[in-house]
Amino acid sequence: DLDPLPPMTPEFLSVLNKVCEQCYTDFAPDELEVSVREHILRDLESFVRRQFPGARLQLFGSSKNGFGFRQSDLDICMVLEGQESIDDGNCIIIIESLARQLKKHPGLKNILPITTAKVPIVKFYHIRTGLEGDISLYNTLALHNTRLLASYAAIDRRVKILCYVMKVFAKMCDIGDASRGSLSSYAYTLMVLFFLQQRSPPVIPVLQEIYDAKKKPQVLVDGWNVYFFHDLKTLPSCWPQYAKNTETVGELWLGLLRFYTEDFDFREHVVCIRQHSRLTTFNKQWTSKYIVIEDPFDLNHNLGAGLSRKMTNFIMKAFINGRTVFGTPIKVFPPLYPSQME
Ligand code: GTP
Ligand code: MG
Repeated sequence: DLDPLPPMTPEFLSVLNKVCEQCYTDFAPDELEVSVREHILRDLESFVRRQFPGARLQLFGSSKNGFGFRQSDLDICMVLEGQESIDDGNCIIIIESLARQLKKHPGLKNILPITTAKVPIVKFYHIRTGLEGDISLYNTLALHNTRLLASYAAIDRRVKILCYVMKVFAKMCDIGDASRGSLSSYAYTLMVLFFLQQRSPPVIPVLQEIYDAKKKPQVLVDGWNVYFFHDLKTLPSCWPQYAKNTETVGELWLGLLRFYTEDFDFREHVVCIRQHSRLTTFNKQWTSKYIVIEDPFDLNHNLGAGLSRKMTNFIMKAFINGRTVFGTPIKVFPPLYPSQME
């Protein structure tokens, strides 16, 4: 029951492509901003070590996965040297004591421990930069999925641009804030990657399915296999479809909106980037939710689990409107970005 789209024009596709490219150039942080993040991290680490001498702090999430915005939060994972893991009780105690310690840091404010969440964190606000951040403990799987996303981003620049476009779109439509009942940036990134794997020819491979041994290697973290192929230099010889897809970012963006509104059957299938063959909601026993997004490593984690029916409809409507807006050629005059229109 979607309206058919009018024929696309090359002129409009070229505008679409430029708008997508512009998302990336407008929002990606520059080298200075990247180094500021590292600097904050080192400063926090030495401060935290006064109380926890073995503490090691590491950035993850969009500060490291290749899809960061200038104002993205700082996702930080803390571990204690010589300690493999932490149990839930100790985790809460350390989070609370970490919060008391951070309250004494003159460069921070709004320190807030959140111990009821699945992953307990301390939130903070960094005054000088205006950046928000949170520290979690032993969030090891998140470090691995950050590396996985970074690898996909490194394969093809269209991956990176499209993930930025998706995040901008989600923010503009108000559907990109998990703490307010919608989906996280991470969930939208997984949706983009899944689309790019399913495109024909695909733009990216399924890195978790590439290996030269007969059997998939096992690298266990928290009981899950975090193996993926990361020797990207050799990808052209390991993956026969390498560089076969030559679509522009604009075409792919419209392709993505059409894919999730016209082709993908949310009722039947799971957004799943760890295998190329379709995974069904029935297989996973996840039939009570409409949008089902499987974490690539923690296979019990459905990123869409927290969506209400109302929010699900709101998100689907945003995609349907997006399909109409980006799929309907209009005369763009005067040009949005004069310098870029040849
Ligand atoms: P922005 O901060 O919006 O730029 O994107 P981000 O990729 O950093 O996302 P976010 O801050 O929401 O999440 C940080 C990281 O937490 C993700 O990149 C994942 O590595 C990890 N993560 C794992 N599971 C989840 C989950 O269920 N929800 C969220 N939000 N993050 C998860
Ligand atoms: Mg983040």
